[in-house]
Amino acid sequence: MISLSFSRAPSSILTLSAIVALCVSSLFFWTPAVSSSHPPSGFAKRFANQTAVDACKSIQFTSKDSTIQYDLASAFSSYFGYYMTSSSNTPACLVKPTTADDLSAVMKVIGQKRINFAISSGGHTGNPGFSSTKGIQITMKGFQGVKLSSDKSYVDVGSGNIWDNVYAVLEGSGRNIVGGRVTGVGVGGFVTGGGGFSWLTNQYGLTVDTVQQFDMVLPDGTQKSVTASSDPDLFWALKGGGNRFGVVYNFRLSTVPQSAQVWGGLKTYTEDQIPAIVNATAEFSKENKDPKAQVIPTYNFVLGAPGISLLAFYDGPSPPAGTFDMFDRAKSFTADWKARSFGDLVRSSPSNATGGHRGAFHTVSFTDYSVDLLNAIVDEVKFYGQQSFTRSGFFISYDVEPFLKYPAKDAAWKHTNSPLPLNIYYVWDNPQDDNYWRKEIVASANRLTEKAKTEGQQLDGLLLYPNYAIDTTPIDRIFDSASLQRLKSIRSKVDPNNVMGLTTSFKF
Ligand SMILES: Cc1cc2nc3c(=O)[nH]c(=O)nc-3n(C[C@H](O)[C@H](O)[C@H](O)COP(=O)(O)OP(=O)(O)OC[C@H]3O[C@@H](n4cnc5c(N)ncnc54)[C@H](O)[C@@H]3O)c2cc1C
Ligand SMILES: *[C@@H]1O[C@H](CO)[C@@H](O)[C@H](O)[C@H]1NC(C)=O
Ligand SMILES: *[C@@H]1O[C@H](CO)[C@@H](O)[C@H](O)[C@H]1NC(C)=O
Ligand SMILES: *[C@@H]1O[C@H](CO)[C@@H](O)[C@H](O)[C@H]1NC(C)=O
Repeated sequence: MISLSFSRAPSSILTLSAIVALCVSSLFFWTPAVSSSHPPSGFAKRFANQTAVDACKSIQFTSKDSTIQYDLASAFSSYFGYYMTSSSNTPACLVKPTTADDLSAVMKVIGQKRINFAISSGGHTGNPGFSSTKGIQITMKGFQGVKLSSDKSYVDVGSGNIWDNVYAVLEGSGRNIVGGRVTGVGVGGFVTGGGGFSWLTNQYGLTVDTVQQFDMVLPDGTQKSVTASSDPDLFWALKGGGNRFGVVYNFRLSTVPQSAQVWGGLKTYTEDQIPAIVNATAEFSKENKDPKAQVIPTYNFVLGAPGISLLAFYDGPSPPAGTFDMFDRAKSFTADWKARSFGDLVRSSPSNATGGHRGAFHTVSFTDYSVDLLNAIVDEVKFYGQQSFTRSGFFISYDVEPFLKYPAKDAAWKHTNSPLPLNIYYVWDNPQDDNYWRKEIVASANRLTEKAKTEGQQLDGLLLYPNYAIDTTPIDRIFDSASLQRLKSIRSKVDPNNVMGLTTSFKF
């Protein structure tokens, strides 16, 4: 979508093209994650923590493919990119185990020597320190298997994969899994860190609702395969409880039927079309009853102007007449809705292009989207768009996800009442603006929460999606009190020495 023809365009359209090319992002975009003027924090001159380096040196790997790297200060930026540079750090060493035994060896050293560490899979968290550290960095990139069972009922997915890899392997098999919606997102954090909203969520729930088995290394280094019947408590806790219970290296996911082609992709709209899209979003949210149809309208501000990117999805080669007609009331600037493979649809999202900058995510859980609420969101976009001129802002995005009531099983992150997660995403460049944006993203979410409550939405029982919530979110906004109690009690059994306390996550 960036291939808009700049050369032939008159200059006013040229600007518009540039704006829309970036507007198309939302969560979503895809130039390489090149940081502009600000390298990842910690990249500047620093000294590696010798205690952590020494601990790394004591790790004994048995597989020749497992690796340990040191002296990362200068090499780190070329190591796999964290999606947000504010979520990166320079570790004392980078360990890449490729077998469960070698992962066990790492966890034993970390636990015995009590070294700060982090686990990263796709590196897409918005929360600094959740998947990066100055201590021992474990990358799960050594676990990238994707294997469909011979009866095609499940897939074993290594946690270091991005979802793109899984779709590529399943293409043409007639089966799919409930996974990420856009390119580049990691499997490991997506599942453990909340649950996983998918294009198939209306039909099958979150990714966690499809997990059959977690293959993992416990905090003390013991290997374990966890199922609903083998360890009901731990199985429940891993479904959204975060990185508090050990390291998962393989997810066994149930498959679902998939047609060879699905339908959808991206349309973008300029500022003058916002009222029409607001109207259509509210209408779709209210009227659509077909679980195979989903949209993500994203209200953006980039390069000086508001705009909209709209991702649509239908689980079949063409939607029944009328399904998405309300959006035709708006005149699109770019349009790429068509029949295509599922993997192609996921790759059509422009999410990589807003990576490589500082950033933050936060969220509100709603029960529905009215015209008034959507207009309040547009006001937030415009307000923070104006602030971005003086605050090194690059991109402001409010991503609306109007699911139907979706199927759900009991899980650590409770979603049986179908919260509709708004994804707020701010992107900026100057580290000195971190505090400003991190404070304002919370203020904005709070205003929208109040707005929805004045409309009569009952939000108190709706929890915030941990994969979108900023790290300062009070824990009781993420887990209800019964779940928190259960999580704490499971933790004290699984991790009596608090090894996972050496890494960062929502704490309980
Ligand atoms: C562009 C973009 C698009 C997104 N789209 C979606 C979407 O469609 N649906 C959705 O639900 N969410 C989406 N998200 C949110 C996403 O779920 C989170 O960013 C999630 O953290 C990504 O997982 P990761 O493996 O890439 O993260 P990482 O940063 O690698 O890890 C995040 C957290 O998970 C822990 N963790 C990672 N791997 C493991 C493991 N193997 N075992 C135990 N703990 C582990 C880490 O310690 C860390 O706390 C999106 C995010 C971005 C930036
Ligand atoms: C070095 O690492 C050890 C182990 O993680 C930690 O306890 C210590 O505080 C670190 N030292 C510094 C100066 O950060
Ligand atoms: C997005 O970036 C990831 C690397 O982080 C890459 O694997 C993926 O192919 C990119 N997607 C597209 C569509 O270019
Ligand atoms: C959207 O606009 C149409 C046509 O103008 C109108 O009939 C409909 O009521 C509006 N829908 C909403 C939700 O405002």
